[in-house]
Amino acid sequence: MPKFKMAVACGAMALLAADGMAENGAAARGKKAYGRYCVSCHGVDGDGRGYEAQHLDPTPRNFTKGAFKWRTTPSGQIPRDEDLLRTIRNGLYATAMPPWGALSDQDLKDLIAYVKTFSPRFAKEAPDPAITIPPQPPNNASSIAAGKETYQTVQCGQCHGDGGRGDGPSASTLKDEWGQPIKAHDFTVGNLKCGNAPEDVYRVFMTGLNGTPMPSFTDSVTPDEAWHLVHYVLSLRQKH
Ligand code: HEC
Ligand code: HEC
Repeated sequence: MPKFKMAVACGAMALLAADGMAENGAAARGKKAYGRYCVSCHGVDGDGRGYEAQHLDPTPRNFTKGAFKWRTTPSGQIPRDEDLLRTIRNGLYATAMPPWGALSDQDLKDLIAYVKTFSPRFAKEAPDPAITIPPQPPNNASSIAAGKETYQTVQCGQCHGDGGRGDGPSASTLKDEWGQPIKAHDFTVGNLKCGNAPEDVYRVFMTGLNGTPMPSFTDSVTPDEAWHLVHYVLSLRQKH
């Protein structure tokens, strides 16, 4: 067993070294792919001002502040490469951000290396490991009822509304860090932007969406309460 562990550790180090060496090449290749696939929305300077941006709501992300919404890292931190990979591969539902799953893994890696050059934060900061998501308890009526209670206690309804329709008292005043008005999600229609897997929902309110008023609740709900909240939020979706 100890021998096996050694082998894994060495393998991981070899991979890291190879990654480090490939980095510049990757960003240069990524620049080409970015010019082909991303520039029309995200802009030459990564500031979200591509020529298509004027027609879009929500607007394409400005990458220069290093603020990314869908992450596994704690509130305020830069994302991990896996986080960017997930978003770019799957796209963001109900926005103009398409899924890029048809690109090769190498293309996606190169694109990520290039996107990270737009913000100096990536050269200076190291993101924490992904937050721990404990195993999901059964999704049943009592979990949903407990989730509803937590929803009221921590006041998700302030923005999302008592019935989760995105019409809470603060909803009409919300703006993002880039000065754009932003809607609190309506849980009763459609899909979440980042995906509807229970883990996706859990992650959203335990990490917060950087650059938006959607905060992290990691200090105010326990992991158990968080799972109940997930079940409640998903129970509000109308099945089409
Ligand atoms: C047709 C327009 C469009 C194109 C093309 C496009 N995007 Fe986006 N992208 C968007 C929009 C709009 C958002 C913001 C969605 C939101 O915040 O609700 C976004 C957001 C993102 C985000 C931020 C996710 C987060 O967690 O905050 C990343 C990363 C991203 N795009 C990468 C890319 C890459 C890489 C490409 C090219 C392969 C690309 N995009 C092409 C429109 C586009
Ligand atoms: C201060 C306002 C505010 C509060 C309070 C708030 N949210 Fe949000 N929430 C938002 C905004 C704004 C968005 C939309 C972000 C976007 O689309 O970029 C959002 C989006 C979401 C999403 C959808 C993410 C996606 O991928 O589409 C979920 C799930 C969510 N919130 C859950 C919650 C839960 C659960 C609570 C309470 C524990 C909560 N929110 C409290 C403002 C808030």
